[in-house]
Amino acid sequence: MYSVNLKNLTRQQFLDEYWQKKPVLIRGAITNFDDPITPDELAGLAMEPSAESRLVSQTDGKWNAQHGPFDSYDHLGEENWSLLIQGVDHWDENVDALLKEFRFMPNWRIDDVMVSFATPGGGVGPHVDNYDVFIIQGSGKRHWQVGSNETLTEVVANEALLHVEAFEPIIDAQLTAGDMLYIPPGFPHQGVAIEPSMSFSVGYRTIAKSHLFSGFADYLIDNQLGKDMVIDPQRQATKTPGLIDEDDIHNLTTSLQDMLGDEQRLTDFYGQHLSAAKHELAIEEDIEPFSADEILDILQEQPLNRLGGLRCLYFPQEWAKGWLYIDGEKYVVSPTLHNAMTLLADETALSHRQLAPWLEYDEFKMLVTQLVNQGFWYFLPTE
Ligand code: SIN
Ligand code: CO
Repeated sequence: MYSVNLKNLTRQQFLDEYWQKKPVLIRGAITNFDDPITPDELAGLAMEPSAESRLVSQTDGKWNAQHGPFDSYDHLGEENWSLLIQGVDHWDENVDALLKEFRFMPNWRIDDVMVSFATPGGGVGPHVDNYDVFIIQGSGKRHWQVGSNETLTEVVANEALLHVEAFEPIIDAQLTAGDMLYIPPGFPHQGVAIEPSMSFSVGYRTIAKSHLFSGFADYLIDNQLGKDMVIDPQRQATKTPGLIDEDDIHNLTTSLQDMLGDEQRLTDFYGQHLSAAKHELAIEEDIEPFSADEILDILQEQPLNRLGGLRCLYFPQEWAKGWLYIDGEKYVVSPTLHNAMTLLADETALSHRQLAPWLEYDEFKMLVTQLVNQGFWYFLPTE
């Protein structure tokens, strides 16, 4: 189990001082840090078509970027390349375990753990991200520079790689295992491996307001909502046909506001939208269905784990109604089971002791059986 020290600050003090405000280097954030996944395992994962992998390399000062899956790395040599995979927490329970220390942010706000392996000289070049990130140094050393958030000109280094021009570092340091950088959106940074090295980036989810809008529009269309027309039965004859007058502007704006004004509808949209996984879930194929009794038996021996990257969310107002959102779908649970529902959403692993009071209820047993058979919650294989 990992334990993260945020400069001896409480989680809240850290958020108040640094979150979305300024970057910081935290030496020894995780003591005795061991890579949760090896470079070989990472290379193997990048051969899977559903893993989102990239290879970034430099030859004679020219940047190359390629998307996976990859079938060989033999051509790459010993230097100046790095392999990066998004959403490794979906595939590897040890990488997923890292996230436990970062769940002082709500699950919907967490994106994924991106893992990178880099050979000496390897890195992705100077760039800006639009999300917050904690970069944990694993094995090997990497040199990191972080600049201030002044506007920098972007340069297309390669069609798959957006860089920024050189920046003046405000953090300039060699990181070794267990050191961690926090970088808010908009601060340019670059890491260059000094030795073959691993790094683990806990990335947060940010949403452009326009994407929230377009997501809501998609929700309305998918759910056949808002199909009624904007109407104008009080229309007055005009002498200025080129004009969109104030009444029309008011009518159009009110129509938009009506769509946004329905709180239940918006809540349902947030639930569906924010619980949908961003990276493909590694759902086990051909699951042999479990019966409820089998699940009860296994639970005596081991906890039930939530699949890495699966989002399970609930709301304060809607909580009373038993609305539970799992991977973009709404589940409605009866009032007696509300506390069981929050266990599913808040905890990543559930013991028999935690679940026992609720397993008396057939409805909950059925829900858990369904979720296990869908591959959303799982037991570790026993020998
Ligand atoms: C890396 O791990 O090499 C890149 C991480 C980042 O800059 O966001
Ligand atoms: Co970055």
